[in-house]
Amino acid sequence: MRWLVSTVLLLCSVAYGLKDLGAPNWSCDASVMAKSKKVPTSAHSVRFADIKVIGALGDSLTAANGAGAPPGDPLAVILQYRGLAFQIGGDKSLDEHITVANVLRKFNPNLVGASKGIGSENVWEVAHLNMGVPGAESKDIIGQARALVSTMHSHSEINVKEDWKLVNIFIGANDICVYCEDPFFNSTAPHGKTTFENNIITAVKILQDNLPRTIVSLTGMFNMRMLRKIDKKKYFCEGLHTFECDCESNQKFTDDDIQGVCFGYMDGEKDIQNTGLFDNKDDFTFVVQPFFNGILDPPYSSPGVVDMTFFAPDCFHFSAYGHGNIGMHLWNTIVQPVGFKQTSVNLSDPSVGLHCPSTSCPFFPTTKNSKNCAAHFTLSELD
Ligand SMILES: *[C@@H]1O[C@H](CO)[C@@H](O)[C@H](O)[C@H]1NC(C)=O
Ligand SMILES: *[C@@H]1O[C@H](CO)[C@@H](O)[C@H](O)[C@H]1NC(C)=O
Ligand SMILES: *[C@@H]1O[C@H](CO)[C@@H](O)[C@H](O)[C@H]1NC(C)=O
Repeated sequence: MRWLVSTVLLLCSVAYGLKDLGAPNWSCDASVMAKSKKVPTSAHSVRFADIKVIGALGDSLTAANGAGAPPGDPLAVILQYRGLAFQIGGDKSLDEHITVANVLRKFNPNLVGASKGIGSENVWEVAHLNMGVPGAESKDIIGQARALVSTMHSHSEINVKEDWKLVNIFIGANDICVYCEDPFFNSTAPHGKTTFENNIITAVKILQDNLPRTIVSLTGMFNMRMLRKIDKKKYFCEGLHTFECDCESNQKFTDDDIQGVCFGYMDGEKDIQNTGLFDNKDDFTFVVQPFFNGILDPPYSSPGVVDMTFFAPDCFHFSAYGHGNIGMHLWNTIVQPVGFKQTSVNLSDPSVGLHCPSTSCPFFPTTKNSKNCAAHFTLSELD
């Protein structure tokens, strides 16, 4: 029954010709498209073409709920359009739809792990290594990290010891949705920040203990104050948000409260990277992609008019176009060196285009190679 419904909706979406954002004919200099002469052993010497496996942890924005929903059909938001997810979706080509997985396939067409089609996280044929679960809070990515490890170990197309893996994480929105119910909300204890931070640390530690040759790329938290600007005068959206995100519509949880907690989360994420907690093994590292941090405005189609084509019909999740747009900004942030990454982008401007890795430092940017790239060229690269 569920499959029938999905199929019918999929056909409808095709018929609607849903708006999307792709990068037709995108390519970079041959020197940055090439893989290393020898498989690198350090996480700080990994070229994009060396990445063989992609995985993701997260919530409904990683499961891509509603991303392929036809306009005006909020019920289709229960469907998980994993193949369109900005962190890991692999439904379409990069020409048609930008995701990190679709970009990486330009470097390595045999990339394993990209999600396809519609379905839940426990169906390998759909999810592949997209472990995102709708409604997940930061505490839930601990279980997702374990599921990712066991899924990788149980699929022979993945060589867990030898293959370089990229794991994308995006989490936090649902922590905000229940934050106002937390007894610590009214106290001054920095409970939210530390719990959120500790949950991420616990999850990433599981990855570090079980997955050699892995780079974890965390998409930084966004300021959920922005969502309230979308609600304004859209009573239909407000109703849905009350249902989907209680605290977002709780007026006692003020705009400043929401923003303060979100900023606390961002600081926690930065701390994890900057304290070097996950830089104690040479074949594992952790990088934050902070492009969401400074965004205060939703995307606009004209001055003051929110661009609803960016959102699924519930005004909360991203549409296919929203995923393509965010996928573009995430990729562009990934290729920037740590310390020089953009902390805000213009969501209203889809014409930015995809950037290429640097020709002078062609590696996946990490805390170490961003400080001193020359030290991370291996001897076989230099001869
Ligand atoms: C992409 O390449 C094809 C084939 O070379 C060409 O027909 C098409 O116009 C190109 N598209 C863009 C947007 O450059
Ligand atoms: C904390 O604030 C929330 C929202 O205003 C309220 O519902 C709750 O009762 C308060 N809790 C305590 C312990 O004061
Ligand atoms: C963002 O992009 C839109 C569309 O190009 C443009 O109209 C707007 O001025 C830009 N906003 C900022 C703050 O640069």
